[in-house]
Amino acid sequence: EMLEKGGFDHFMLKEIYEQPRSIKDCMRGRIYPEEGKVQLGGIKEFAEKLKNIDRIIIVACGTSWHAGLVGEYLIEEYARIPVEVEYASEFRYRNPIITEKDVVIAISQSGETADTMAAIEMAKERGATIFGICNVAGASIPRLTHAGVYTHAGPEIGVASTKAFTAQVTVLTLMAFYMAQQKGTITTSKLIELLTELDNIPDKIQIALESNDLIKEVAEKIKDSTNCLFLGRGSGFPVALEGALKLKEISYIHAEGYPAAEMKHGPIALIDEEMPVVFIATQNSSYEKVISNIQEVKARKGKVIAIVTQGDTEVKKMADYCIEIPDANEAFLPLIATIPLQLLSYHIAVMRGCNVDQPRNLAKSVTVE
Ligand code: AGP
Repeated sequence: EMLEKGGFDHFMLKEIYEQPRSIKDCMRGRIYPEEGKVQLGGIKEFAEKLKNIDRIIIVACGTSWHAGLVGEYLIEEYARIPVEVEYASEFRYRNPIITEKDVVIAISQSGETADTMAAIEMAKERGATIFGICNVAGASIPRLTHAGVYTHAGPEIGVASTKAFTAQVTVLTLMAFYMAQQKGTITTSKLIELLTELDNIPDKIQIALESNDLIKEVAEKIKDSTNCLFLGRGSGFPVALEGALKLKEISYIHAEGYPAAEMKHGPIALIDEEMPVVFIATQNSSYEKVISNIQEVKARKGKVIAIVTQGDTEVKKMADYCIEIPDANEAFLPLIATIPLQLLSYHIAVMRGCNVDQPRNLAKSVTVE
């Protein structure tokens, strides 16, 4: 088993460290930065259809649903198609309005999640075109969908999803650019710029992984907390949700992800000196606003852990702990900012003596309702 773990103590840690590689594998043969072109063989027969779709509905569960929220941000931003992101388990029991002009994207690492499969079947009956984003080749979901794109992240053994999440986000990024290309909502020069940067993301993830020792020190400081808040804005919000889910799953610490601006509508009441608050506080369009949210937490004596852009000086003046990540376009922020949160949960869980790869009460894929 030690051999299978490639020298790492746990599968989860191995899978976290595999991300520069898995994202490269996911992009291979699909992006052409010099030409400003994205090719997705799996959905190419629907290239024409994509010019005229009214709406996209993303269905998924858990971490895959978080990837869907990032997808919503990217598809709306670049392809200008309205997107709704639904929990598969809720969607299947509503009476949703679906037409032939809708595309449903089902996201699933395992390809066996019962709720996601049921949502696909319902949308199919109502005439929608179904795309899948799946990691396991030949699983049930890829067989149920009309077309799809594999994430190629390789087998994920740890119950807590890590490399599958970043690969799903990568595929959604490619889909957003592909749709934008089809619809003509993006110029070739803009695509050249974005794809060139995307091509470099694996190196930036590698740099983010180098903060591991510092993250371990931060983990030591907050490992005995009973609660933890994760806050972010824009594409940093799904990152916050994912950070909170990871911590809950493997360390059993109660954690919540929230849009930072929503804090004043309720969760701020929770803040005292016992409450660690993890902020996604990178330099992007919401930076100034996040800074004022940090001040609100500090004023109530909360402990602030901030994920910041390399070279940041502003947040450093306020936060108790800062973890730096390389600068990136806001579109790619989730791919990098997620890395320190995965490591943070991992170290906290190990320090608390938890079974990181197989947390209590959880299965790798939920094949029952
Ligand atoms: C992630 O860490 C979880 N274990 C869980 O939320 C998972 O993402 C969810 O069950 C969906 O699984 P799937 O991607 O295989 O469909």
